[in-house]
Amino acid sequence: MSHVVSSEKKIGIDAIRFYTPSFAIDLHTIASQRGIDPNKFHVGLGQHCMSVMPPDEDIVTMAAHAALPLIDEQNKRDIHLVLFATESGVDQSKAAGLWVHHLLGLSSSCRVVELKQACYSATCALQLAISYLHMHPTEKVLLLASDNARYGLNTPGEPTQGCGAVAIILSVSPRLVAIEPHQGVVADHVMDFWRPNYLNEAVVDGKYSTKVYLNTLLKCWEEYSRQSGHGFSEHARFCYHIPFTRMAEKAHERLSRSASSQTCATALHSQIEPGLLYSKQLGNAYTASLYIGCASLLENELEDLSEKRIGFFSYGSGCVGEFFSGVVQRGYQKALFREEHQSLLTSRAKLSYEQYKDFFTYQLPEDGGDHTTPVHSAVRFRLLGCRNHERLYQ
Ligand code: CAA
Repeated sequence: MSHVVSSEKKIGIDAIRFYTPSFAIDLHTIASQRGIDPNKFHVGLGQHCMSVMPPDEDIVTMAAHAALPLIDEQNKRDIHLVLFATESGVDQSKAAGLWVHHLLGLSSSCRVVELKQACYSATCALQLAISYLHMHPTEKVLLLASDNARYGLNTPGEPTQGCGAVAIILSVSPRLVAIEPHQGVVADHVMDFWRPNYLNEAVVDGKYSTKVYLNTLLKCWEEYSRQSGHGFSEHARFCYHIPFTRMAEKAHERLSRSASSQTCATALHSQIEPGLLYSKQLGNAYTASLYIGCASLLENELEDLSEKRIGFFSYGSGCVGEFFSGVVQRGYQKALFREEHQSLLTSRAKLSYEQYKDFFTYQLPEDGGDHTTPVHSAVRFRLLGCRNHERLYQ
């Protein structure tokens, strides 16, 4: 997919907002329950806390909450395409985005579709949106990425769970990041992580998945830098897919070595650290992780990033990887939601181990009966329950 066009048109991220439910578990609590040294999680994985999905929320309510603050009357008129990226789909047929489209009151002349390729699909959605906006420059695209990362109780993946959603408005003349035209893309058939339709938790070959992630990164970088002519030092900051923050740090160290960069360890650290702050507290949000990292970088970096280039690496197990870049726009600071995002993370209720286990093991009944979910969340959108196999939202 090449976005090279004759016009000087800048297209990219105009606004980015994320949401995560109001419940979390401290990884200290998991460590003491499992008899594990908490430093394994804090230092070894770089994770401190993870958001936990209550029974009355799901990918639909999370995405609707993420998008709501971005949907004013103008955007309702301008959005004619909703792309919903997820690997936690709630229906085999209906796109989750249609419930969000309804909850937000978007225009009826709007295309709505769901995309899947593990954690990568939001990036494919972003590139499709950019191509679409070249054809429809007066419109906007709403990209939603929403996931609940589940590996199972007492598994090695357990401390790398989490949940959250991101809503991104893409447009011409974006206020935040203009996406550049070159990408390095690699697709390969590997079984590092997958989830058959009949399982609620992922099957994962954890150590192997980290190796495939790193190898894919290097291949994507090679192709991206060949096409774009951009070297490592021409990127001021880097954002990676963040299954756990230590993975992004390892990726950055590996990329720097492979690109023969002379950047010292402290500088390398500062190129990615502000982008990891939210994920350390939220955990993995699969499709949304890279873009929560992007919000974290823009909102927590102390230096002015105007006109600076950011390198992005998106990875989805199975696998597809993509390296691309974007340039931060002048005045971007005015279009951020720093206070809102930070308060979302700090105001979450901390669950005990038993409460976490109850939330984790709750399943919406599958018998077609009339069921109401217990009320846990004092939020605008809730999954009320189901009736006749239909999910009901408030
Ligand atoms: N103090 C400090 N560090 C400690 C420690 C202690 N007491 N005990 C262990 N550690 C370190 C280990 O040395 C290790 O560090 P290195 O990787 O640098 O060697 C780290 O903590 C993890 O320890 P283990 O390797 O023993 O961990 P594990 O076997 O329990 O599992 C994992 C780690 C494979 C990442 C597992 O959490 C997992 O399967 N996670 C899910 C899969 C995943 O996230 N894969 C990432 C790539 S795939 C992807 O990105 C897509 C996606 O979103 C899933």
